[in-house]
Amino acid sequence: MKTIKNSTMTFKEEILAGIPNELPQTKTYDPQVNHAPKRKQILSPEEEILAYRNALRYFDPKHHATLLPEFKHELETYGRIYMHRFRPDYKIYARPIQEYPGESTQAKAIMLMIQNNLDHAVAQHPDELITYGGNGGVFSNWAQYRLVMQYLAQMTDQQTLAIYSGHPMGLFPSHKDAPRVVVTNGMMIPNYSKADDWEKFNALGVTQYGQMTAGSYMYIGPQGIVHGTTITVLNGFRKIKKSPKGGLFVTSGLGGMSGAQPKAGNIAGCVTVCGEINKKATKTRHEQGWVDEVISDLDQLGKRVKEALAAKQAVSIAWDGNIVDVWEHFDKENIHIDLGSDQTSLHNPWAGGYYPMGLSYEQSNEMMANDPALFKEKIQETLKRHVAAINKHTAKGTYFFDYGNAFLLEASRAGANIMAENNIDFKYSSYVQDIMGPMCFDYGFGPFRWVCGSGNPEDLAKTDAIACQVLEEIMKDAPTQVQQQMADNIQWIKGAQQNKLVVGSQARILYADSEGRMKIASAFNKAIKEGHLDTIILGRDHHDVSGTDSPYRETSNIYDGSRFTADMAIQNVIGDSFRGATWVSIHNGGGVGWGEVINGGFGMVLDGSNDAQRRLESMLFWDVNNGIARRSWARNKEAVFAIKREMKRNPNLKVTLPNFVDDSLLN
Ligand SMILES: NC(=O)c1ccc[n+]([C@@H]2O[C@H](COP(=O)([O-])OP(=O)(O)OC[C@H]3O[C@@H](n4cnc5c(N)ncnc54)[C@H](O)[C@@H]3O)[C@@H](O)[C@H]2O)c1
Repeated sequence: MKTIKNSTMTFKEEILAGIPNELPQTKTYDPQVNHAPKRKQILSPEEEILAYRNALRYFDPKHHATLLPEFKHELETYGRIYMHRFRPDYKIYARPIQEYPGESTQAKAIMLMIQNNLDHAVAQHPDELITYGGNGGVFSNWAQYRLVMQYLAQMTDQQTLAIYSGHPMGLFPSHKDAPRVVVTNGMMIPNYSKADDWEKFNALGVTQYGQMTAGSYMYIGPQGIVHGTTITVLNGFRKIKKSPKGGLFVTSGLGGMSGAQPKAGNIAGCVTVCGEINKKATKTRHEQGWVDEVISDLDQLGKRVKEALAAKQAVSIAWDGNIVDVWEHFDKENIHIDLGSDQTSLHNPWAGGYYPMGLSYEQSNEMMANDPALFKEKIQETLKRHVAAINKHTAKGTYFFDYGNAFLLEASRAGANIMAENNIDFKYSSYVQDIMGPMCFDYGFGPFRWVCGSGNPEDLAKTDAIACQVLEEIMKDAPTQVQQQMADNIQWIKGAQQNKLVVGSQARILYADSEGRMKIASAFNKAIKEGHLDTIILGRDHHDVSGTDSPYRETSNIYDGSRFTADMAIQNVIGDSFRGATWVSIHNGGGVGWGEVINGGFGMVLDGSNDAQRRLESMLFWDVNNGIARRSWARNKEAVFAIKREMKRNPNLKVTLPNFVDDSLLN
């Protein structure tokens, strides 16, 4: 028997200990926690042995005989080896930056961001290190987590930590302007990027799905997506030329990201109905105040919606069941839906992202693990029914858009009636094609965010005031093309505190172009220098102008054929890394699925120094304008306008511009 010690270590000591010499006590499986579904058994007996060998290499051989049966049990029971015993004893949440051990403020900031991504109040399946999206992992197992935290606590500003899909390869000598951390997630040889490749190589412990802001440590709870969804809903109603007041928005999902939809609907001012099959997810969002009411009876739902529409109430209602029921019932009852969408996790359809009709949540989870072929059939049947009901509504005037979850793609693969007459395009557009692309990304507007290192809400209020002042100043001379975006974001930042958007770290998001991002960041750095603010961590969602190549989402409004290339995302992350980012990340498989997207991002620490000022100017300029240049080369006229404007402002910028061909010559 091995000696098993109760942890009496402090937070700092436990981090510095990394993987402890003595085994920590085994952990209990808490049924109150939202756990990842059992993953598909995909490994052959030889591969299972390889998975055990891979897992055990993190530990001293003296512990192998104790750990092997545990890891076998985990692989058999959960389909993955999470190493639950090594979950830390301290509470994981974004503590103020000074509470972390270490030599480097930049590394401490990264620790803070990792802690936030794994906070029980923030993460979707915290014990399995999943932040959102069903499979968006920060790390694959708790040994990786412990090692990374230990390395960050040991490193100096003359070193860089290389992280390969959750695994810390180690600290390598570098220099003060180099990124402190370089993260790659799920980078595969292209032919090995099918859905089952993720299942297999993740089960072997050699790769992981980092989503966008999960494995890049840049998640700020649902606030990020509340903002994006608010902008989308507002612009969606503008598109159909109707006020959100007295309008109906129907969608689904109350998970990590999708849970933001009801709140965004409330901010926009419409009635929102959001279907959710998982009672735990509904309960969490209801308790957090992100959705106002929960209804489990269809007739009652119809009645309540009619009443709310008549009263022009801004209210959000969770439908406690499968979303397809709502689409079918509202068709029967002739309830007119103005805007329709879906935010189930269809990027991950076979492993818990989308639930079929006719089975309870628990029955589905069982079938998914034990009869994946039948489960797939059920999903595809449901998708066909889902689309058939949507088609009935759109025939009556509903505006339906794909909200970046691969709904149209998976529905088409299921054989649903979703293709346009030319059999190439889908019947419906993605929100990027119609809304986000031409109105935001092509002008350089994207999800800029920051986190207050102090963890102090007063600091967040100060940053809100600074950002608002900067935007109001810029707005005075902004061209008409971007006035609406500026106005929406000024209104957003003014209402941000009242809307109580913070879950986890003291963070804020708004959409800004490169001018806005650079001016806001400079104003923060100045306030830090003058002693008005503590450290600020800048970042963005990967869902942005430049960071992501995703043919069915971020780059779905690229029409020169290049939307199936990923040069922009790679250029972006390489460029950010040598222009001063504190950490950079590049991932295979964000919101729309493994093999379907390459997305990258950065984090940048502002400490009030001249170095920070130099870095922010250099990196933020590239980070936005790289994407505008590519969008302009793809002949998007809004981007041509934006990049020409940027060239006037910065004589060092010289971009290749496209020539437009007369259509009559080609047709
Ligand atoms: N548009 C964007 O900006 C954007 C941003 C982030 C994520 N996404 C995408 O949105 C999707 C959702 O992300 P998430 O993080 O919220 O995922 P999630 O897995 O946390 O939530 C999805 C929810 O949908 C529920 N669900 C699945 N099938 C259902 C059904 N038939 N009826 C009712 N409920 C059902 C699940 O129970 C789950 O709670 C993902 O595909 C993600 O990639 C889009």
